[in-house]
Amino acid sequence: MTLMRVLAISGSLRESSSNTSLLRALVTLAPADTTVHFSAPLDSLPFFNSDVEEARLPQSVQAWRQDVGLADAIVISSPEYAHGVSGVLKNALDWLVGGVEINGKPVSVLNARPQASVAHGALVETLRVMGARVVDQTAVPLTGRKLDHSGIAADPELAALLQAVLSTLRQSTEDAAGGPA
Ligand SMILES: Cc1cc2nc3c(=O)[nH]c(=O)nc-3n(C[C@H](O)[C@H](O)[C@H](O)COP(=O)(O)O)c2cc1C
Repeated sequence: MTLMRVLAISGSLRESSSNTSLLRALVTLAPADTTVHFSAPLDSLPFFNSDVEEARLPQSVQAWRQDVGLADAIVISSPEYAHGVSGVLKNALDWLVGGVEINGKPVSVLNARPQASVAHGALVETLRVMGARVVDQTAVPLTGRKLDHSGIAADPELAALLQAVLSTLRQSTEDAAGGPA
């Protein structure tokens, strides 16, 4: 049984973000062979600029790429803003395009607001064109429920959905490695 390191990425900067709460519930629900951790908040990254990328990669971008590179799998949950992916998330993904860290990496894309489908579709397309393996897309019906991370983890239906997300990621990392370790 090898440890699976999952990187959780929230597209919302809000303190009481539903997307971040969903990801924090994953930390609670992770089985013993899985760790779920967050990178630094995405607003610690500068705006993407390929001149800066070519001159010298900022320290925060190096750390971000390293976090992605060290992960065995990734889970993303992001709000939709005016039918688009949140600016901070798209900016963070743009900083990965010039690297190799996300290539072939299994990614699960959660949608905490299933009626918001335009940004979700765009995010999946962006991830695919960047070379990530989107192995799972899960709609989590959180709208109007005002649950924090412990409330989400304690809800049997939501907990089962999130456990299935981790299990799918585990399966895809094992498949990529040629079988269970
Ligand atoms: C500027 C702005 C634009 C939004 N645009 C949309 C939208 O196009 N579609 C939608 O379903 N929700 C939209 N919403 C609602 C957010 O997606 C929703 O509040 C979401 O739960 C916020 O996520 P968070 O709790 O993780 O911060 C918008 C909210 C804001 C503040």
